[in-house]
Amino acid sequence: MILKQNISLLPYNTFGIDVKADYLLEFFSVEDLQQSLASDIVNGKRILAVGCGSNLLFVSDFKGIILHSKINFITVVDQSDEFVFLEVGSGVVWDDFVQFCVDNNYYGAENLSLIPGQTGAATVQNIGAYGVEIQSLVEMVKALEVVSGVPRCFTNSECRYDYRNSIFKNEAKDKFIITSTVFKLSKIENYSLDYQQFKSEVEKRGTLSLQNVRNTIIEIRQQKLPDTTILGNAGSFFKNPYCSRSQFEVLKRQYAKIPFYPVDNEFVKLPAAWLIEQSGCKGMILGNAQVYDKQALVIINRGNAKGNEVVALAQFVQRAVFEKFAIRLEPEVNYIA
Ligand code: EPU
Repeated sequence: MILKQNISLLPYNTFGIDVKADYLLEFFSVEDLQQSLASDIVNGKRILAVGCGSNLLFVSDFKGIILHSKINFITVVDQSDEFVFLEVGSGVVWDDFVQFCVDNNYYGAENLSLIPGQTGAATVQNIGAYGVEIQSLVEMVKALEVVSGVPRCFTNSECRYDYRNSIFKNEAKDKFIITSTVFKLSKIENYSLDYQQFKSEVEKRGTLSLQNVRNTIIEIRQQKLPDTTILGNAGSFFKNPYCSRSQFEVLKRQYAKIPFYPVDNEFVKLPAAWLIEQSGCKGMILGNAQVYDKQALVIINRGNAKGNEVVALAQFVQRAVFEKFAIRLEPEVNYIA
């Protein structure tokens, strides 16, 4: 393992917020992490696991120790004619894993191309895009309990997955550090193309194949979402809120064109981007933070933004949307104070 002290977190968060952590520890294996958890280096300190920091907003310096996984392997652990089971270290960059699956004709992960972050963090956040969520691929998550260093496996149902949510953001938060995930992918050709106009976007680009689907997703994402190496951001800043069908009926009478995603008989999800734009907040600037003018769901760092400037802008947006629609927006981004 490698321990660094009084370190800038600029390379560890895609928002580009320049704060410091007391310590940062990189671990390279399960044993490495086990030893670190048992040692005085970690013991008694506040800890936070950070991958690429693509879903975090640091609001202040971090008083404690950041644990950063460098566990980097992809291994086939089992397979049948139909499925392959792949164990993936928590430090593997998620999109490298997607490319690996595409290269090997394993089906299921391609719609999640180009989502930033490490695999461990992706399984915490239940990342999703274009009709697929990672929960449909997760067989098991392997982690170490922080207080004891004892390994624990979480089955898919034990992960309690929900929209951008899991047990690792709730009861298990800060209590377990993920070391690897076992994914189940299909060896039989199949695609998820039902999301809005996605199928026609793929067809426009040629014959249906894993690489074509991946390329399509990459192109769409690059058009819509700002490049974090140029403009600091954390992808969607807010979750798409749930709205009861009865409230939705009232809104539809007022806004005939309101877009929605059906959930079940009781709820629909509304696109936060649309609500924000209709509330007049698209493009809005507060200090060095801005609601992105090409996609209202994203907040960007215009350069040297402080975490609390971003929070202030987010709160402004939340108030504006609530006043207009009586809908509460909840951040998808995790604030770290
Ligand atoms: N819209 C606006 N104004 C805008 C942008 C969009 O009115 O500035 C409207 C669009 O017209 C559309 C609707 O909002 O009707 C939805 O927009 P979009 O299709 O861009 O997708 P989204 O619902 O905003 C979600 C995920 C993304 C994921 C895409 C594609 C959430 C919070 N976001 O966005 O995930 O990539 O679908 O599947 O669920 C992320 O989590 O970081 C992320 C980028």
